[in-house]
Amino acid sequence: MAKERWSSKLGIILAVAGSAIGLGNFLRFPVQAANNGGGAFMVPYFVAILLVGLPLMWIEWTIGRFGGGFGHSTAPGIFQTLWNKNKFIKYFGVIGIFGPILIFVYYIYIESWLLGYSVFAIMGKYNSCTNQEAMASFLHAYQGLIKNEFFSSIGPAYFFFLITFLINVGIICLGISKGIEKVCEYALPVLFVFAVILLIRVLTLGTPDALKPDNNVINGLGFMWNPDWSALKSAKVWVAATGQIFYTLSVGIGVILTYASYLKKQDDVALSGLSAAATNEFAEVIFGGSIVITAAFVFFGAAGTKAIASGGAFNLGFITMPLVLQKVAFGNIFGFLWFMLLFLAGVTSSISLAQPSVAFLEDEFNFTKKKASGIFAIVTFVLCQPVIFFLGRGVLDELDFWSVSVCLIVFATVEAILFAWVFGMEKAWAQLHVGSDIRIPKIYRFIIKYVTPMFLLGMMGFWFWQDWRDIISMKNVPAENRPYILATRLGLLALFGLLSYLVWHSWRKRSQKVMAGDAY
Ligand code: ALA
Repeated sequence: MAKERWSSKLGIILAVAGSAIGLGNFLRFPVQAANNGGGAFMVPYFVAILLVGLPLMWIEWTIGRFGGGFGHSTAPGIFQTLWNKNKFIKYFGVIGIFGPILIFVYYIYIESWLLGYSVFAIMGKYNSCTNQEAMASFLHAYQGLIKNEFFSSIGPAYFFFLITFLINVGIICLGISKGIEKVCEYALPVLFVFAVILLIRVLTLGTPDALKPDNNVINGLGFMWNPDWSALKSAKVWVAATGQIFYTLSVGIGVILTYASYLKKQDDVALSGLSAAATNEFAEVIFGGSIVITAAFVFFGAAGTKAIASGGAFNLGFITMPLVLQKVAFGNIFGFLWFMLLFLAGVTSSISLAQPSVAFLEDEFNFTKKKASGIFAIVTFVLCQPVIFFLGRGVLDELDFWSVSVCLIVFATVEAILFAWVFGMEKAWAQLHVGSDIRIPKIYRFIIKYVTPMFLLGMMGFWFWQDWRDIISMKNVPAENRPYILATRLGLLALFGLLSYLVWHSWRKRSQKVMAGDAY
């Protein structure tokens, strides 16, 4: 089968930027920054971009394009081409398919809430919720956790989930250039326009309550950005900033290398990787950094916003923002723009999470796009059910933990070491510059070889040493949720085992073919 290709350079940059720009930019980033030193958070944040974010971006673009040249679009095959003497390395690559599946399974459900809320905003369905409690109860009834006058079953949430799921599978079925590339080409500009409109609206809120003159836009921006330098002494702040960089850039997951595998041998990766990262950072720091926290501050003041931000990203997005936007003229329209913006950001990320599994089945089993997408759809549809029906039991958070806090760090560490040490820095640097439109500063040879792997190993070690026992013993899981969490963990092990078996099986078949003298 001829390898699929991106139809333009801008197309892949937008697709990678689309994968990166997601809920993390608009919800996770402002909460992390506000809770971890405000403006001071940007110090570890930029250090993490320069020392791990950008290097991993370049590594994934380079190894993806390299592996693509051998017909492999996913990590097992790509890792194997980088280290063809080692028989086991491809099993580490399984993480690059497994992790994206886990994230996809819960991310798509959250994405479907955004679609639902866009419709509710236009319909004015939550207009009667005028305080945090009422809006929280609206959300919890929608999620099926409670029943109230708004929702008596999980039916509406399931309906929007089905639509969102079908949209994603439909795009994936259309393929790289006709599906993913086309969608990102339209969705990203629309998303930016929505973000600009919302930003202008928030920045012109002024001082809506004359009795509380301190609750104004300038102080809101100050709340977000005034640096608390003492935060820099806390290890937690550095870990939070690094985690945010991984999450927001979509590096260490296994998706960017898959996208890059559809490049041609001479296509640039150095400038393209940088451009995709820069686009994401613009969306994150400018839009993510100015919209939600400022809006919350203007209506709820410093103490209220602190409480909201410490309540997490969901509260901010699904409870505070709709409340705030209801208070302005044409609030329903602004509410729609807000949720649609997040929905579009979500779709362009979730399709990237689906692609590794589909590509794996196409490359290693010679399945057609339709067949591979169909299998992916059936498997992930089944996996979504516990997330939907056992939301209150912590299944969603469990998947988030294993995918983002564990798989991502391990995968990033393996790929960084493979690239710089096994493949070898000499060859790696040359590969990175094949067909490149820029020359990367030499200092990055040193950073990629020493600093990035050390940084990652250090983080992994620190995390392991600090948290491992509590995680295994489920110390922080309420007793009544433990059976669900245990079942989730066993399910994850089974899925990992199944994927590893598929890798083993496809390589065995391939070597049998080679021995029988068939073409490779
Ligand atoms: N990078 C994606 C986000 O920010 C996963 O949501």
